[in-house]
Amino acid sequence: MANDVEQIKSRLDIIEVVGEYIRLKQSGQNWKGLCPFHGEKTPSLMVHREKQIWHCFGCGLGGDVFEFIEKIENVEFPEALEILARKAGVELTSRQGGGPEAGKRLRLFHLLEVATAFYREQLKSSASGAVARAYLAKRGVTPESVADFSLGYAPPEWDKLTNHLRNNGFSIEEALLSGVAMKSERGPGVYDRFRDRLLFPITDAQSRVVGFGGRTLDPEAKEAKYINSPQGPIYNKSLILYNLDKAKLYIKEAGCAVLVEGYMDIIGSWEAGVRNVVATSGTALTPEQVKLLKRYTNELRLAFDADLAGRTASERGIDLALQAELEVKVIKLPQGKDPDDAARVDAVGFKSAVESALPIGDYAFATVLGQVDTTTREGKKQAAKLLLAAIVKLPDPVDRDYYLKRLARELDVDERSLRERLPVNRTPVAGASPEPVTEPVAKPSREQLLSERLLVLLVGFGPELWPLTLGLEAGMIAPVWAELYRQAALQYSERQRVDFDELAQELVHEPTTNRLINILSLRAEHDFADVDPREARQEFEQVARELKTNYHKRSLKFLSDAIAQAEHAGQNDKLEELKLKYREVTVELTQLQR
Ligand code: UTP
Ligand code: MN
Repeated sequence: MANDVEQIKSRLDIIEVVGEYIRLKQSGQNWKGLCPFHGEKTPSLMVHREKQIWHCFGCGLGGDVFEFIEKIENVEFPEALEILARKAGVELTSRQGGGPEAGKRLRLFHLLEVATAFYREQLKSSASGAVARAYLAKRGVTPESVADFSLGYAPPEWDKLTNHLRNNGFSIEEALLSGVAMKSERGPGVYDRFRDRLLFPITDAQSRVVGFGGRTLDPEAKEAKYINSPQGPIYNKSLILYNLDKAKLYIKEAGCAVLVEGYMDIIGSWEAGVRNVVATSGTALTPEQVKLLKRYTNELRLAFDADLAGRTASERGIDLALQAELEVKVIKLPQGKDPDDAARVDAVGFKSAVESALPIGDYAFATVLGQVDTTTREGKKQAAKLLLAAIVKLPDPVDRDYYLKRLARELDVDERSLRERLPVNRTPVAGASPEPVTEPVAKPSREQLLSERLLVLLVGFGPELWPLTLGLEAGMIAPVWAELYRQAALQYSERQRVDFDELAQELVHEPTTNRLINILSLRAEHDFADVDPREARQEFEQVARELKTNYHKRSLKFLSDAIAQAEHAGQNDKLEELKLKYREVTVELTQLQR
């Protein structure tokens, strides 16, 4: 494992890895960018090429490339390891290191890979897949796209995939969790969710398949046109933008992202050479998706069909994008055409429509003034109402001012009367920086950090360190780690050695403890590849001393409160006992501090 970590590090450049998430500018020896972990407007995240580390001078977070991935993807070390191994093209030597929680997730990812391969194969060569092949050909989807998007076909049988997964060692439980199988409503059975459908694997930003969208091939079908994977441990549709993994480099290159509505729009646009495209899964943009986009660009271009664009521009998702200070533009497509149609009919025209997208304010003006007769009094009122509603959404006061003046001019009315009618924006903001979209990571307490470190050291250098734990009791360390420490200390006192792997086996029914052990063993290997046991011992003594000291200080505080109470209540016996205890603790403290 330590070896894997080293290999991965040697093959990846932290500047590139971090650069996939945030825009970095060179600044002397370092690279600099806006820290994604706290709201900021001037860059204080530094990435150091030589040392291959990052540090934010705003919020104090920092670390190596693994820690960056852990934080930004909100995953634990085993998953960060998988992500980076994939990026680096390193085959991991051990996968079981993942631990129960992370291990489960990784198995689901693996299952979805197996399912994707199965569906692809069905599309490529099964007899029943002929209908899907014909459908794709009819819509003009090229074989390159079939490969690029890993398109597949779900056969019409009830259980073909589920059986295939079982033959590949996956359980029914896993098939259900991954969303590709579902429980029968009537009996105890389980069957494939997707049947006789064209399948679009949905990937996350690391190109891992997280779910599927399945399109019916029957134009007369009564069921939904698309069936999608349900929300589950792996698939969360509000966190995913379809095609982001393939589009992200193009987005950075183009300086903007094009947002379309559907899977087919993505493919049509991709084939036409507009590759900076992403789609939501048929829903309005979510705050998480906006945040994700902000990593790559400051500008979002909406490509919806003309009727929709008007409606959509006023949607909450667009509000969110504006509030997050994304510049929002609207791509004008021929009436009645969605991006897929438009791109297929006229690729050049589609490209130039994307090029000449209008800022959302201009777009609103063009649409409203094109539809409303503003020479009449009624028309002026109606246009004012529609456009004021659009103007109020713009977060930048300079923009609002500009469009208000323009509206006054267009309608030939006094600007002040327009200002009076400016509705109050219901959504919070107006110039204020957007709320951080996800909760900032709760900062672990000093106690927690010390306790974690203590255990990491014990995992890495146990044989040398256990003898030094005398007097260090479970109650002295942070509650999350206390149980694990207690169990380990117990094992040590029984057999003069601790086997954390064995502990993990024994504690398999205690998910938290077990997970902690896995984190620990990975951290230990990760942190101590080149630490000398003497240094470890010194650090251990320091950490243990600080934990004990803090514990004794807390005890003294507790005891002095209790003494005051006992005095007040006249409980003399108890008082004596407490005072004795107080003296003992004081002695221990002075010894520690010597
Ligand atoms: P569209 O109906 O525009 O689909 O829905 P499309 O991708 O353009 O497909 P074609 O061109 O009709 O074949 C847009 C998106 O909304 C979601 C899908 O993500 C789809 O791509 N959707 C639509 C559903 O989830 N379920 C549905 O029943 C319909
Ligand atoms: Mn379509």
